[in-house]
Amino acid sequence: MDLRAHIRGIPDFPKPGILFYDISTLLRNGPAWRAAMARLAAIVRPHRPDLLAGIESRGFLVAAPLALELGLGFIMLRKPNKLPGLTIGLNYALEYGTDRIEMQADAVQKGQRVVLLDDLLATGGTMAAGINLLRQAGAVVPAAAALIELTFLGGRARLDVPFEALIAYD
Ligand code: PRP
Ligand code: MG
Repeated sequence: MDLRAHIRGIPDFPKPGILFYDISTLLRNGPAWRAAMARLAAIVRPHRPDLLAGIESRGFLVAAPLALELGLGFIMLRKPNKLPGLTIGLNYALEYGTDRIEMQADAVQKGQRVVLLDDLLATGGTMAAGINLLRQAGAVVPAAAALIELTFLGGRARLDVPFEALIAYD
């Protein structure tokens, strides 16, 4: 299965000059989506996670089905003010401005191994924040993974855990 053939690049979205890699066409194709999850499962399984975490919103589309595939629970890292109960959060810098992600404070037990998933690694800011937030909650983060990596942005250099993606664009 050539997963790359199921991702389309859409020019000038969301801004002029940006080529947006759209996973919608992969998600629409049952066999391609299943193949992507099987390949990520093979990458993630050796890290022996207790739980998987995904970053809202497209990361949920990767982490939740992968958790089912691996028979694991799933944790949501969400945009601000979405989660009920006691939450912890982390602000992180964007190219312009800042963003924030939050999770429920009791989502992991101290020392649990949580692998973090997202659809795409660009600058790495989102993934790095997710890793640090999970650590604040007491997790050990043995690895992170994504469907797509934009290697020309060098995001993986911001991560201090092993990272793998199924498709790289350079
Ligand atoms: C996109 C993508 C990653 C993040 C990568 O999410 O899904 O989460 O940006 O960028 P970075 O590596 O430069 O941090 P976006 O904020 O567009 O939101 P969405 O997932 O809700 O569509
Ligand atoms: Mg996202």
